[in-house]
Formats: sequence, structure tokens, C-alpha cells
Amino acid sequence: MNYGNITILGLQWGDEGKGKVVDYFTEGVDIVARFGGGANAGHTVVNDRGKFILHLLPSGIINPDVKCFMGGGMVVDPVGLFEELDDIEAKGINCDNRLYIDYNTHLVLPQHKGIEKYSEGLVKGKSIDTTMRGIGPTYADKANRIGITAGDLANDERLADKVNLYIRKKKARLAVLGDESLLDPNKLIGFFTPYKEQIRNMLIDVTSELKSAIDQNMKILFEGSQGSLLDLGLGNYPFVTSSNTTIGGLFTGLGVPPGVQGEVLGVVKAYTTRVGNGPFPSEISGETGEKLREKGGEYGATTGRPRRCGWLDTAIVKRTAFMSGVTGLVLTKLDVLDGLDEIDVCVGHSRDGKLYDFPPLSGDFMSGVEPVYETLPGWQNPTADISDYKKLPEPAKRYIDFIEYQIEKPVKYISTGSRRSAFAKKS
Ligand code: IMO
Ligand code: MG
Repeated sequence: MNYGNITILGLQWGDEGKGKVVDYFTEGVDIVARFGGGANAGHTVVNDRGKFILHLLPSGIINPDVKCFMGGGMVVDPVGLFEELDDIEAKGINCDNRLYIDYNTHLVLPQHKGIEKYSEGLVKGKSIDTTMRGIGPTYADKANRIGITAGDLANDERLADKVNLYIRKKKARLAVLGDESLLDPNKLIGFFTPYKEQIRNMLIDVTSELKSAIDQNMKILFEGSQGSLLDLGLGNYPFVTSSNTTIGGLFTGLGVPPGVQGEVLGVVKAYTTRVGNGPFPSEISGETGEKLREKGGEYGATTGRPRRCGWLDTAIVKRTAFMSGVTGLVLTKLDVLDGLDEIDVCVGHSRDGKLYDFPPLSGDFMSGVEPVYETLPGWQNPTADISDYKKLPEPAKRYIDFIEYQIEKPVKYISTGSRRSAFAKKS
């Protein structure tokens, strides 16, 4: 079953360049539906309309012909949402009647940010080093079945009921934060006042809308956020986010059946980066790591934190590409490797004398492994902005062939810079 739809997922620790790839593939698409995460994402899109950094909004919003859905698997911070909308509208993007939110989408409350600040602060040095956007506490309240959803804003009485119940159930937990205002239900009701009307106008039943779209043969792009290693259940636990970032999150986050995903493009950076704490077997320390960070502009789009840099780990990506049924790879930021004499690729993890070329991803297992490298020749000619595959230097093509062989998936596209035109199709 292939509906001509397209799914875009990150196969590493996030920041693979999903924003650019989504923007590229929104041409000819009717709907972009984002299924998970919240304002922890940082998606940079550069096109002829300008440079945009998006957190909550699906990257399709930049294309005026596309409708965007925020699915029930997301957690949406009303403050951040309207700041972001103001920002892109100021840059000339009209979002009227184009942006919708599912009734079931949970909302990030000031309480969630308070809890996160408190709990991350308790374990300085051992924290996960989250983005502090309230993501974990919001998903926890969802799992606790006390969260407040976008649909709760549809009716004032229902909202007051939900808020009162929420505060009653959470009071003891919230009291330790030492901020009286977080215990006051009226204050929380008031928090929604500036956003209520606008969110009401965006409410839809995403599953039903997607079914109609599928019935009418419309083309849908399913947008992933975060990377596969940050998947709550399948990733580098506990150094993960609190949502499912791999393919399963698409189905549970939007209420659509397996099969509608169409082509699943796995986005892979030509090297690896990670923000936040946790094991990173192919991390490079010293000058080469520093060079990649500077050349690749590897500073968090959400928090500004310097990203940790390392070599590409094909052992990890073989596993994450398998888990999501990836049908093709998009290799990004190849140009950042220009000018290196040699390039290492981590093809396996070794632990207690055993080699893992399809390694377990849990934090405990991964923190005890050593990387196993193969070294390939680098290339001196620049690849930046090359959009014709044939024009890539021979060693760069060999690097790409090697990646395909190791990951066991075809590389279908290569991105060689942030501009939209810097995109080569490998036939
Ligand atoms: P995009 O969509 C990179 C990381 C955080 C932290 C961990 C948990 O841009 O790829 P959270 O705030 O989610 O509870 O933090 O997950 N993280 C990301 N790292 N890119 C992202 O999104 C990320 N979203 C979360 O740094 O280590
Ligand atoms: Mg990011």
C-alpha cells in the first residue's frame, strides 16, 4: 500500500536537518502533519522567503499552499506557539486557516516548566540536560491521565473542571516547588485566557481530517521531530525525550493506520551530533571535533547549547533505519566534511570482547562500549552547494557507497548546504 505520501524521520540524536528536508518535500504536498514532541525541536528552514527557526510549528508552515496539522501526539505550549506564529507572520507568512490542532493534543502548563526546573536542578551533573520546555512533565501528566488538552479549551466549564481537578491531584507535588501561584486554579484558568479563542478556532479531529484527505487522494507529508535515539522506548534511555520519535509515534500520534506513511525518508547527518548528556561512542574530542562544530554551525537551535560532535555511527543508524522501515536515506551536511584527510566511520560497538554491528541503544549498554572504526579517505574539493550527484568528488561518492553498504539502505538524496538548491538526487 503506498498512497504517494511521504514520511520524514531523524535517525540519529536529532538535528539531522529534518527542517530543510521537510521544506524541500512540501512542494506538491497538501497537508503536513506533525505527530510528536513539542517546542524541544529546533528546525531550521532557509529558502527564498528567508531563514526560519521553528519549534512547534510543522516545517510545512513556510509553504503557503500547505495546511499544517499538530497531532494529538504532540505537546503544545500556548505561549511558545503564539510567539512563533507572530514571528513568522512578521516575516510575511500568512497562517490564517492553515494551522490546526487536534482536540487530544496536550498543553504545556507553567506547572510543567516549574516541575522540570526543579527536578533537573536536583541532580546537577547527573541531569538529562533537557531543553527545559516542559516536555517530560507534560507527557507524564498525560500518562497520569490528568493532563489538559487543547480540546478542553473549547468549553469554559469543562476547562474549569479540568483545571480544578488537576490542581487538586497535583497539589502535594506542586507544593515543593515553593511557588504559590502554581497552586492557584484561577491563575491557571487565567493563563489560558489570551490563547483560548485562537486555539478554539484551530481545533480539529486530525484522524478524521486525514481520513478525508486520504479518501480524496491528497498528498500528506508526515513530519517527525527529534531523532530515533531520543525515542522514549526504543532509544538511549534514560537520555531520551518523552515521546516516540520512531515510526510507531506516527500512528499513535495521528490515529492513522500502518501503510499510509508512504516513502519513509530517514535523515542522517554525514557525521553525528548530540546535545545534552548521555553516552556518545563516536564522539570526537579535540581539534577535529571543534572544526566540525564550527563549520557545521553545531549550536542548538532551541537552546543555543554547543552540540557534541562525532563521526557517523552506521551501526546505530542500521538499527534505527530498520526500526522505522526506512525506504531511503537523505544524507545531510556532507559539505561539512570537505577538506579532511581521512574520515572515520563507526561500524560497530565492542563490549567485553564482543562486536555489535546492530547494537542495543539503551544508555546503560551504550555507556560501556568502545567504537570500532573503519577509516576512509577524505576529499579536498568542496562539495558545498553541489546539486548534481555526478559532480561530487570520487572519495565523497565512495563514502556514500560505504554508508549504503553498512546501513543496508539506499541513499536517495544528498544535501550539501542549508540552501534549498543544495540538494542532489542519487539515481
Ligand atoms: P529536533 O527536532 C536535539 C534532547 C535534549 C535532551 C533530551 C531530552 O531539533 O531534532 P527534552 O527537552 O525533550 O525532555 O530533552 O532530548 N532533545 C533534542 N536534541 N534535537 C531535538 O529536536 C531534541 N529534542 C530533545 O537535548 O538531551
Ligand atoms: Mg534540535
